[in-house]
Amino acid sequence: MGGTQSAAKRILVLGLDGAGKTALVQTIVQEQIDTLFPTQGLKINFTAREGIRLAFWELPGLPQFRPQWQGYYDGVDMMVFVVDGANPKRMLEARLTLKTVLHSPVVTGVPLLVFANKCDRVNKRSPPQIVNLMKLGDIRDRHWYIQACSATTGEGIDAGLEWLLTELKKGKLAANARAVTSREVTRRHRDMLAEMVAGYNKGSERDAAGEGEGEGEGGGEEDALLTLRDIQLRFEKQSGVLYAASCLIVALEEREIPWKKVEVGVCVRVGGRVGCALK
Ligand code: GTP
Ligand code: MG
Repeated sequence: MGGTQSAAKRILVLGLDGAGKTALVQTIVQEQIDTLFPTQGLKINFTAREGIRLAFWELPGLPQFRPQWQGYYDGVDMMVFVVDGANPKRMLEARLTLKTVLHSPVVTGVPLLVFANKCDRVNKRSPPQIVNLMKLGDIRDRHWYIQACSATTGEGIDAGLEWLLTELKKGKLAANARAVTSREVTRRHRDMLAEMVAGYNKGSERDAAGEGEGEGEGGGEEDALLTLRDIQLRFEKQSGVLYAASCLIVALEEREIPWKKVEVGVCVRVGGRVGCALK
């Protein structure tokens, strides 16, 4: 198969009616700002930044549409909440609306960018004032960031997107790490630990039967029977090496760089009885 194009990151754009969501997305995707009417349904706009494809899913902010927002939470990579930063009278409503959104378990941990829009207006509130008014400091279950901006002049939008892209890249790294952990590391660690424990049990049986020490391949001190505590300590130490090796293999395979297996990549010896190779 040829080069695969990664799926666009889904960015859910929410906020009260009139906050400036449509104007903001139009500015981001470099469309001319049309005459704006309240949005009536889902609007999706695509763009790309720093090689990352972005899909802005914008939902209407009028109160009658807000209960429908939750139908779009699944699979979201980032949330953008747009606030009219020049309208303190609606901050409480914005705060409670955002609180309801963040309460949904479907979006737990999804990073949040708050755009304090309309910063071109004279009565704009500063980001720290908006943090206070909207009690953003209470948000502890995800990364969040507030950026003053103006959809009309374009001010602040790039700075907000820079944070957004950094978060999305972090998310990609975390997803890779999770994939590595589940596929390679877990299997190898499980096998290695099983062999260590099997070696420990065998050793215990031999001891119970009165056989002497030093009969293993390694001989001498190395052959002394290890306690489970020793095994745990060695396992902890070696698992770091295995993790690094597994990450490397997965990275090579993902990039289709050929690599060769050698007989012993990582070797763990417990009491001279167990040899665990990374194969
Ligand atoms: P709904 O679709 O009803 O949810 O509203 P919305 O959040 O999409 O708001 P929209 O983008 O339609 O903007 C509402 C009004 O605010 C429009 O008249 C815009 O021109 C105006 N507006 C949006 N952004 C800005 C801004 O940064 N500065 C100023 N001065 N006006 C803005
Ligand atoms: Mg709109």
